[in-house]
Amino acid sequence: MRTQVGIVGAGPAGLLLSHLLHLRGIDSVVLEARSREYVEQRVRAGVLEQGTVDLLNEAGVGERMRKEGLPHHGIELRYGGAGHRIPFEKLVPGRAITVYGQQEVVKDLIARRLADGGKILFEVPDVALHSLEKSPYLTFQGERLDCDVIAGCDGFHGVSRPSIPEGVLSIFQRDYPFAWLGILAQVPPSAEELIYAHSDRGFALHSMRTPEISRFYLQVPTDASLDDWPDERIWAELRARLETVPGFELTEGPIFAKDVSAMRSFVAEPMRHGNLYLAGDAAHIVPPTGAKGLNLAVADVRLLTAALADFYETGSTELLDAYSDTCLKRVWRAQHFSWWMTTLLHTFDADDAYGGRLQTSHLDYVTSSTAAATTLAENYVGLPFEPGASHA
Ligand code: APR
Ligand code: PHB
Repeated sequence: MRTQVGIVGAGPAGLLLSHLLHLRGIDSVVLEARSREYVEQRVRAGVLEQGTVDLLNEAGVGERMRKEGLPHHGIELRYGGAGHRIPFEKLVPGRAITVYGQQEVVKDLIARRLADGGKILFEVPDVALHSLEKSPYLTFQGERLDCDVIAGCDGFHGVSRPSIPEGVLSIFQRDYPFAWLGILAQVPPSAEELIYAHSDRGFALHSMRTPEISRFYLQVPTDASLDDWPDERIWAELRARLETVPGFELTEGPIFAKDVSAMRSFVAEPMRHGNLYLAGDAAHIVPPTGAKGLNLAVADVRLLTAALADFYETGSTELLDAYSDTCLKRVWRAQHFSWWMTTLLHTFDADDAYGGRLQTSHLDYVTSSTAAATTLAENYVGLPFEPGASHA
């Protein structure tokens, strides 16, 4: 078999890349270890930046998102017995976020690829990458797929990044001393907007998926097990961390999904080796506090598409050569923002009284200074794709 771009992984990065390439007349094959059902049901974050929404619309895959996605024009930071709204409409006019589950984006992209005759092979768990510096090819289940380039879109635990010879990549990493317990509940959201709550008991997040389904997260110890968290304990802890302002009442309902995820910051540089290009979680991970993971993956594949299209149209490798450096600028901005939000909102060592005072001062500053709140808002809704481009 032969294709122009061999794509490993059918997450948001691999699927969107395959679709964007198709729109530019470039052929690809996507190889995915898991089943279609599995990738369509996998629960992940759900906040789309303005630029992500615009790109999905321009690429013709935004129809259901426009109908079912929930546009939000602000978020609340809640701490010390009060809520403080960060008003995007005032701080970054014309820019907002859309709450729409990542698995819904994945479903829309798979449906569109298959309708367009795209090749996605599911349940191929044994993909291997070869000859990255010359004529690359992929092998799986006794087959060989020759390609011009390989796109490693197979997430943090994939096979692409480990296929790069030792000593080539520089790794930058930070692990956090807590994890997130996430739930989905069949219950209307208790507020119209997301609430990021800081308390002495730990961080909590009120989010949502639809007018009937809420998503919540709790900061928990890194070794937390779902067995320790029966539904009643989860609701009690959410109440303790969120019902901290007068008049706010949490609406409770049946929990139908629970997960625990580690909190990690990670970057592998460069995002290219020979004819292998890494995109999305395969190259970088952020803690979910800034809701940047999916959006960074989208920004990567947007650039990779432009670079590959330019290569096929003109023969120039200039944009491909610049791919890693160009991506990493945005990646590091998101790394900083995600670390900053995480540090601002979580509860760290209770014995560190000095650190606690700094954190309160930091929260007071962000919620009282227009300059500081604008820093949060412009990063949260997403910086423009091209540095220096207008926000409007
Ligand atoms: N072979 C083929 N496919 C693989 C392999 C492998 N060896 N290893 C992993 N995969 C698949 C996974 O099953 C998954 O479907 O690659 C896909 C990677 O998808 P994601 O993990 O969703 O990563 P990405 O597409 O980069 O999307 C980034 O995902 O975790 C979130 O926060 C992150 O929202 C961000 C988004
Ligand atoms: C989510 O709804 O899943 C979500 C929202 C905001 C975040 C992280 C996750 O910062």
